[in-house]
Amino acid sequence: MIRIVNEDTPLFILDTEDTSYLFKVTATGHPEHLYYGAKITADSSDGLTECHEFAEGNTNAVDDEHKNFTLENMRLEISSYGKGDIREPMIELTNSDGSFTVDLRYDSYELSKGKKEPEDFPGSYGAEDEVDVLKIVMKDKENNLQLDMFYYVYPKCNVITRKCVLTNHGDGRVIIDRLMSMLMDFDNGSYTMHTFTGAWTREMHKSDIPVKAGKTVVSSYTGTSSSRANPLVMISEGIANEEYGKVYGFNLIYSGNHYECCEMSPYGKVRFVAGINPSGFRWTLEKEECFETPEEVMTFSREGFGKMSHNMHDFVNTHIVRGEWKERLRPILLNSWEASYFDINESKLVNLARIAKKIGIELFVMDDGWFGTRDDDTSSLGDWYANKKKLPGGLKGLCSKIKKLGLDFGIWVEPEMVNEKSELYRSHPDWVIAIPGKPHSKGRNQMILDLTRSGVQEYIIDTMTRILSSCDISYIKWDMNRTFTDIFSSALPADRQGEVIHRYYMGLYHVMNVITKKFPKVLFEGCAAGGNRFDLGILSYFPQIWASDDTDPVVRAEIQTSYSYGYPPSTISCHVSDSPNHQTLRRTHSTTRFNVAAFGVLGYESNLMDMRKEQLEGYKKQIECYKEWRQTMQYGRFYRIMSFADSLSDTHSVITPTTGKHLEWCVVSEDKKTALSMILQIMVIPNSQTAVIHPAGLDPDMRYSLNNRELSYSILDFGSLVNTAAPVHIRADGHNHHLLDKFIRMPGEKESHIMYGDAIMNAGVHLKSGFAAVGYDDQVRFYQDYSSRIYILRSEENDNGNDQQDHKDNG
Ligand code: DGJ
Repeated sequence: MIRIVNEDTPLFILDTEDTSYLFKVTATGHPEHLYYGAKITADSSDGLTECHEFAEGNTNAVDDEHKNFTLENMRLEISSYGKGDIREPMIELTNSDGSFTVDLRYDSYELSKGKKEPEDFPGSYGAEDEVDVLKIVMKDKENNLQLDMFYYVYPKCNVITRKCVLTNHGDGRVIIDRLMSMLMDFDNGSYTMHTFTGAWTREMHKSDIPVKAGKTVVSSYTGTSSSRANPLVMISEGIANEEYGKVYGFNLIYSGNHYECCEMSPYGKVRFVAGINPSGFRWTLEKEECFETPEEVMTFSREGFGKMSHNMHDFVNTHIVRGEWKERLRPILLNSWEASYFDINESKLVNLARIAKKIGIELFVMDDGWFGTRDDDTSSLGDWYANKKKLPGGLKGLCSKIKKLGLDFGIWVEPEMVNEKSELYRSHPDWVIAIPGKPHSKGRNQMILDLTRSGVQEYIIDTMTRILSSCDISYIKWDMNRTFTDIFSSALPADRQGEVIHRYYMGLYHVMNVITKKFPKVLFEGCAAGGNRFDLGILSYFPQIWASDDTDPVVRAEIQTSYSYGYPPSTISCHVSDSPNHQTLRRTHSTTRFNVAAFGVLGYESNLMDMRKEQLEGYKKQIECYKEWRQTMQYGRFYRIMSFADSLSDTHSVITPTTGKHLEWCVVSEDKKTALSMILQIMVIPNSQTAVIHPAGLDPDMRYSLNNRELSYSILDFGSLVNTAAPVHIRADGHNHHLLDKFIRMPGEKESHIMYGDAIMNAGVHLKSGFAAVGYDDQVRFYQDYSSRIYILRSEENDNGNDQQDHKDNG
């Protein structure tokens, strides 16, 4: 809800269910930020306004009429250089006379309701009863500029988004060097900036950076939102954890270069700005042209990081993801990449699909290698015709065989790219982002198509239309495997080269919009060498994204934990792959690989043809389990209860920093009648029998049954200890040991408890004894390095009860 109190100048009150955001217009016409935080009752700015009776020494008065008014230490909604504010500005530009000063003053406001679904540029959307809109019009009369600042208030999700549009009403051209989406000034205080940086196969490393004097910046400069620095940023005030404390969440609805900066001024005030990265950006506005920024999402929670994430999750599921896949269950897929990389052919794929069908997979996805002469990554991007040697019946032939097996069919594409070794490049060498006549630095042997050109956009739309119309394709994995270098478009003049990246995204979003509208039933999954473009811009068109090329469950657990701060499980694509893992060579149990992947959109990426019967049986049971709880796994309330980083404990003085690191997640159905809880440890703690879990988000008054997803173990896992039970001596790992393994499995522990929700959450559930080298029976928890468990909680009122025996996993 938005309220306006007309004092001498207006006071704007933007309320969501649990938060309030207030600013007012000063006598000078500057929007002064008053408050953002937990919901408050206010009918005036009394007591919320800072007092600046006299201008601070050595600062500049904004004008002669207001000698005590200086911008350097004000809390503002917008700031620019030239009138005394020397902190990070929201706007930097060069006026037509060469000056840099921008002096925007309040002009008027407009209120409206509802926000349309985005078309050629991503953004949030909502019906009239879901979103209130405030537009503040600011004018710089000296330079004939107008800045429209938009606030979109989503009360239910406790989210406010901001963006602005700058229009040049002057006769001359204006050059924009920076136009951020939002700026917020916090009161003096103790703040921590939480960022997510990383690299390929290790995306989303969370850093907690105390905000001190000076600036802390995260930004991407790869031409993508990037694995180097996700646009998701949080700021906490004072002490905050998952359940307590003040936490602000911010995210940009954009896939290009972004910039987030926290600055503590010499007065101790903290300013946060976010938007398009000004580095490499320069935009010319001719007379009556305008420039629109992407939207920045803001949320606040005074119940810690957990509630902040829940706000973000609700917002993304309801006001970002759209189309037929909005709030719809996602299929379980098998992807061919790690099963055979480029070495694919029809019979191999059909054999793989046949087994996939038997274990319960619903969608078969052919990854890279199916087109042109693509046998490795040196050629064929751009030649989107099936390789007839590999697929004699073309896409159609393979598709009909897969469909006959009872599976849906999907394919991998990378439409934004071209290899020099391709028909497309030979026909259109000018269609790439490159500086003519100068050497080009390539990534993965490929070049980026110049999507600023409408001809290139049309080519991609036509190509995708042809492919998607050629047979019954239900799913597209849309990849993008390199970052930008030598940024230049031959379609733009020399003085507009600073516009290339942003124009590229305008082109890409147009393409994505047209294709997703043309093929609304197709499930699109974004991908960019894993998580190099995991952002709300992509999610505005594609409902899910491949989170990382790393499928090692231990690494993934950390990566998925980090994504969960801002992105709901329904958007995070996760696969069970082989062990040893192809990215880390780490060996892990299939159970752990499943347990981690199940807390997102589950898929498989394994060579099923090489698997033993028992392994396939294990996968089958996993898939059955996931199908049963899929609604909760994909759309339930997700809780981070413990992360590896937080679990470092000095209570066990004998353990090293790695031993004992563990993680705990929980996901709870909307009606709270079902919950699934997962624990995972990195390294075993010796002589440690006791353990307790704390599932969260339950109804305190409901009685729940809690059972583990039961496991059984290979006797090979016990090595020579097998002799403590065997009547004859068995050589560890020898022939007899392996022979016995075919017939004997060691039963895992059975957890079975009936408890009230409040007891489970507060007292915790004390688990069966962990293995501690003093005995083993079916009451002992076999909990080794990289072990994990899923516990299923069902309310006694839940008539959807199920027998856990159905889900016995062969590990
Ligand atoms: C990078 C993706 O992230 C992988 O999953 C796979 O699709 C390869 N590209 C194919 O080239």
